[in-house]
Amino acid sequence: MDAPRRPAADPDFRHDVLAGLAARPRAIPARWLYDRRGSELFEAITRLPEYYLTRTETRLLEAHCPEAAALVGPGHAVVEFGSGASLKTRILLRGAAPSAYVPIDISGDFLRDAADSLREDFPGLPVHPVEADFMAPIALPDAVAEQPRLGFFPGSTIGNLVASTAVDLLRNMKRTLGVGAWLLIGFDRAKDPAELVRAYDDEAGVTAAFNLNLLERINRELGGTIPVDAFRHKAVWNDARSRIEMHIEAVRDVAFTVDGTEFAMAAGETIHSENSHKYGARDARFMLLAGGWAPIREWTDEEERFAIVLARAEPPRFAP
Ligand code: AVI
Repeated sequence: MDAPRRPAADPDFRHDVLAGLAARPRAIPARWLYDRRGSELFEAITRLPEYYLTRTETRLLEAHCPEAAALVGPGHAVVEFGSGASLKTRILLRGAAPSAYVPIDISGDFLRDAADSLREDFPGLPVHPVEADFMAPIALPDAVAEQPRLGFFPGSTIGNLVASTAVDLLRNMKRTLGVGAWLLIGFDRAKDPAELVRAYDDEAGVTAAFNLNLLERINRELGGTIPVDAFRHKAVWNDARSRIEMHIEAVRDVAFTVDGTEFAMAAGETIHSENSHKYGARDARFMLLAGGWAPIREWTDEEERFAIVLARAEPPRFAP
């Protein structure tokens, strides 16, 4: 009998893995961490005691959405960049008196499920899902063409991008939403590195499973022969770049193949799998300005662990 055939692999995934394993330092883009299992593990991370980000941002939104909504005014189309429909989305939609909700996500299945569940919870609110990569400018649905817009980008997901890519994204968000639009965005603040490392290397090992799932995914989808037990999760603070880095470290010398290509790693060598940048208050404001957004108001918790910032898309101006 023939061996069961593996479903056709995503060519972008194959390319990024083969190129990333061949590069020095080895690195694979973080977006590949989020297959179904990875997304489930990330959900579990958001509930961990050490992972203060989601809890803190949710409390900030509960406390300050009314004030943000008063500044923005009613009747905006809320445009969410990335997998939405979480508790945070619901807090904003309850507080903002929106005219419509436009979730943008690259995963069509996820998007449709999330849109259905939101329609149930917000009957009467028009929901127009857009299946697209939010890193590029996006044509919004005709139904919201004439409506003012409020962008929503919570979670400090901006922190997963290096600064130049983050600024490109902010500029593209401005193109998508238009001059005069608003943006409510979360930034994780720089803090004691020990606390940060704990948040990304938790006691229960959920973040380790999330990171190592990338190897399982390579084995599953690209016919890899990686012995996962030869690797461990590593979270390190890179002070010069103000970021937590996740790496997958070989604990012994190891050889394996991916889609027929041979690789060898020595004990201690790593595959860099994610960055999570952390910002001072001025860093976040400066980054928004670089992307064409004027910071209008910001709210932070008592310990200044996390901030949500309300910004407005500025018209282009001549310097100075
Ligand atoms: C999605 N993103 C904001 C998370 C973060 O905190 O950078 C991803 C994550 N990686 C490990 N834990 C959480």
